[in-house]
Amino acid sequence: MLLNTPPMGWNSWNTFGAEISDELIRQTARTMKEKGYLDAGYRYIVIDDCWSLKERDSQGRLVPDPAKFPHGMKALADYVHGLGFRFGMYSCAGVQTCAGYPASFDHEFIDAQTFADWGVDYLKYDFCNFPSSADGKNRYATMSMALKATGRDILFAACNWGTDAPWMWMKSLGVHMYRSTGDIQDNYKSFTDIAHSQLDHFCMSGANCFNDIDMLTVGMYGKGNVALGQACNDAEYQTQFALWCMLGAPLMVGGDVRNMAPFAEQLLLNKGLLRINQDTEGRPPQCVYRGRVIHIEYDPVDGWWHEYPDAGLTLFKHLSDHEFGVGYFNFAPKSGEIPFIFADAGLPYGSGAALHLTDAVTGEDLGVHRDYYHQNLEGHACRVLLARLVKL
Ligand code: GAL
Repeated sequence: MLLNTPPMGWNSWNTFGAEISDELIRQTARTMKEKGYLDAGYRYIVIDDCWSLKERDSQGRLVPDPAKFPHGMKALADYVHGLGFRFGMYSCAGVQTCAGYPASFDHEFIDAQTFADWGVDYLKYDFCNFPSSADGKNRYATMSMALKATGRDILFAACNWGTDAPWMWMKSLGVHMYRSTGDIQDNYKSFTDIAHSQLDHFCMSGANCFNDIDMLTVGMYGKGNVALGQACNDAEYQTQFALWCMLGAPLMVGGDVRNMAPFAEQLLLNKGLLRINQDTEGRPPQCVYRGRVIHIEYDPVDGWWHEYPDAGLTLFKHLSDHEFGVGYFNFAPKSGEIPFIFADAGLPYGSGAALHLTDAVTGEDLGVHRDYYHQNLEGHACRVLLARLVKL
């Protein structure tokens, strides 16, 4: 299976948890087709945990819960395929899934064959209830071989939450994407912590094996299965999506596409950001500035000068066709300036070349610049530009 760009799709877990059904998946697929998600590249529709009965059948096979999936999985896969999508399902390397359903430990080959028989194109493979005497790496290798033994092209999405530095070994096991972090929650701290924890690892992410920093919470606004604390606002969701795009992470929508707010829907379908995420060269960004103190301010209420270290991030990503993505992020709670001096990304003032900048989100033409282009950003906000080299 050849996978040149980060996988894109939708996953049931973030919003629906155990509340999944045949009808939900069909409605989601229809909506994603109607609203342009499929055309934008969101191709995989994935059912997460809680889809099966608690017992296997007499031949040891997993059984879809008939109350949730009365037509079985093959019929649902056919329907999803008929609309042009690929169909994803979920199991776990342990003896039970995280929600307590039967999982694939010691059943890898029979389960992989069952998924292939149903027409599954994507398997998310979790790590709960894993026997302490067993070897986790070996069991991901086993499921990888089991999927290949079916003869079907199945994207293998390993989800061991970053245990044992998966960026060092998942690629050699035939895995197509690996979850490198714990579960995302629908708040600002959760997704910024997750992204920061992986900044140094994206150099090992790329074609055929992508670092997966979990499903998006864009557009959830505190509803659903992963709400905790203060939900994000629009600017924060834009920061989440921009980070995932600049890093080249898989884009799995976790919100309810049937009821997506217009801002969130436009963000998820934004052509400029998706162009950066899906660039065929698949390069990680340079961290031009990271953790620079960008904001020092006197607060008359407490009488202190406040500094926000670790608050700014400037990313610069080489794209195909002589283009570049530039991401400015202000992680401070207050407004501040995020710098970008071109020489720090390899383009000194006297080079004879300059950057023609456009806003990646709005398409606004920002003109030609040869030295620097800084951004004043509100707290928690970001801006992403597309840059093209021009000769002076
Ligand atoms: C977690 C996993 C989540 C979700 C959940 C289902 O381990 O990280 O993404 O799949 O299990 O129970």
